[in-house]
Amino acid sequence: RTRRWQVECRPDIDSFTPGLLALYESLKPSEEHNSKQKQLVDSLTKSVSKEWPNAQLHLYGSCANSFGTSHSDVDVCLEMETDTESTAEVLLKLADVLRADNFNNVEAITSARVPIVRMSDPGSGFSCDICINNLFAVANTKLLKDYAQIDQRLLQLAFLVKHWAKQRSVNETYRGTLSSYAYVLMCINFLQLREPKILPCLQAMEHTYTLNADGTECAYFDKVHELQDFGAENKESLAELLWAFFHYWAFHHDYRRDVISVRIGNKISKQEKNWTTRVGNDRHLMCIEDPFETGHDLGRGVDRQTIRILREEFERAASVLQYDDDPCVTLFERYDC
Ligand code: CTP
Ligand code: MG
Repeated sequence: RTRRWQVECRPDIDSFTPGLLALYESLKPSEEHNSKQKQLVDSLTKSVSKEWPNAQLHLYGSCANSFGTSHSDVDVCLEMETDTESTAEVLLKLADVLRADNFNNVEAITSARVPIVRMSDPGSGFSCDICINNLFAVANTKLLKDYAQIDQRLLQLAFLVKHWAKQRSVNETYRGTLSSYAYVLMCINFLQLREPKILPCLQAMEHTYTLNADGTECAYFDKVHELQDFGAENKESLAELLWAFFHYWAFHHDYRRDVISVRIGNKISKQEKNWTTRVGNDRHLMCIEDPFETGHDLGRGVDRQTIRILREEFERAASVLQYDDDPCVTLFERYDC
């Protein structure tokens, strides 16, 4: 009897690549979107520099890591001296400044793991999250952007996976599923593990870039223009990779044993990370190591119920790509729970 994980993908899988590429193109942000985003950053810079003239503004997340769609929000990090003031105090003051400058729905969320001010821009309607001195986010944004420049299949795959996750309602961290950031790391790790490899492990190479975030060195090889041909030996098409991605998470991944790690370009055991039991709210049922904050499990919010939902969705996706007559449509059918 053939086991499900031994199934090979359908022989005509490549015929779906053009449709998937067209969908990818349609998800990319428009010129108009990019210029509106720039205007928002300009007006924000003006507001902030009145109160904090030395503050530096960094974009992070999908508006800067090249994984952004036209629906993505704008994530901003302010780098500044805070002297004796706590981050919460600065954020409350920032919220007042932004309200006075007529930004909409301004709200300081000071109790989150990464405290932020959230607001929306009346001009563009974009929603914007602002955090303070979160240099890990600045470093991981650059890391993702650099990975994206090595092989175009990463962006294509990750856009489709993010779109699928949003349509299927499994991109909601507050409900126990996964962040967009986690999905992109799953894609990177998956391409690091293909045979032949499609992506290298930049953190395991010579360190040409270093950023110190709260005493932790975030370092890796960032001369990615030298790696343009890295994945050339692997000829897998987008459709094949998308199927293999879902098939991996549906049938191959050892949820009980393994942690995926972009940092080492492989899997490591939960044992090695001491992620074998629940600690506080970290359940460690589905483990994705943050590349720089290596104590962070990006799957920590996944619980017994949501891990089941996620695995069922991975299985559905793999079987739609395997058997459906019109997988490019069926795969992304909306499911609201
Ligand atoms: N981030 C992080 N640690 C997390 C979650 C997020 O450091 N546990 C940072 C990352 O820099 C990430 C950014 O916050 O790129 C934004 O996260 P998220 O909203 O999940 O991803 P986006 O890429 O912005 O996706 P979307 O297009 O859905 O907005
Ligand atoms: Mg975002």
